[in-house]
Amino acid sequence: MHDSPAAPRYFRKLVGPRLYLSPINVDDAERYCEWLNDMEVSRTLTLAHMNLSLGAEREALERLSRGHNYAIVLKDNDELIGNCGLIDVNHLCRTCEIGLFIGNKTHWGKGYGPQAMQLLMQYAFSYLNIRNIMLRVYSYNERAITAYRRIGFREIGRWRRAMPREGKEHDIVFMDVLDEEFAAAGHPPSFA
Ligand SMILES: CC(C)(COP(=O)(O)OP(=O)(O)OC[C@H]1O[C@@H](n2cnc3c(N)ncnc32)[C@H](O)[C@@H]1OP(=O)(O)O)[C@@H](O)C(=O)NCCC(=O)NCCS
Repeated sequence: MHDSPAAPRYFRKLVGPRLYLSPINVDDAERYCEWLNDMEVSRTLTLAHMNLSLGAEREALERLSRGHNYAIVLKDNDELIGNCGLIDVNHLCRTCEIGLFIGNKTHWGKGYGPQAMQLLMQYAFSYLNIRNIMLRVYSYNERAITAYRRIGFREIGRWRRAMPREGKEHDIVFMDVLDEEFAAAGHPPSFA
């Protein structure tokens, strides 16, 4: 008798050229915990000033997995590299916020963050009928700001000196993009 094949960890819901977005697998809590306790990863996230235990992370993943939050997984080898999600989806106003992180630092600077965002944004505009997506980013996170500008986000304002961290008072930068601006930027077709 043969063993039945292992259940898949991820599901190819939104597929781009090099990665796909899958529903979150709560059994990845340990991996997330490892990433988010690395201050180099979390220093640009709100989470940096929280104590993240394995139990807390499992609970957080269970809660997140019921919303529009997705694992970012490489197509080639099904490797989990991070997470992205939509926050405060408001169908009356057709707005939401977006957030993400690539937890595996060896994969920073390879364009995976923008590609994951593009997939999630295309989904938000095409299937959730969102019109405006906003994000907030700390002013010292230049890598993220560069990536967001490239996708089509523009700065709409700053909450000045609202993020005191690492001995300095940083701004919280607000950026947004409309569905038509995103479409005009000519993003490659996805969900292929
Ligand atoms: C921010 C993040 C999502 C970006 O994803 P990514 O896949 O690394 O993005 P990219 O590969 O497009 O790299 C971003 C760009 O910033 C550039 N960059 C890198 N370091 C930089 C710096 N210190 N200042 C300015 N630009 C920088 C990169 O060279 C790249 O531009 P290029 O493609 O023209 O070379 C990812 O790095 C990450 O998860 N960081 C930690 C968590 C985080 O900050 N999340 C966002 C919170 S708002």
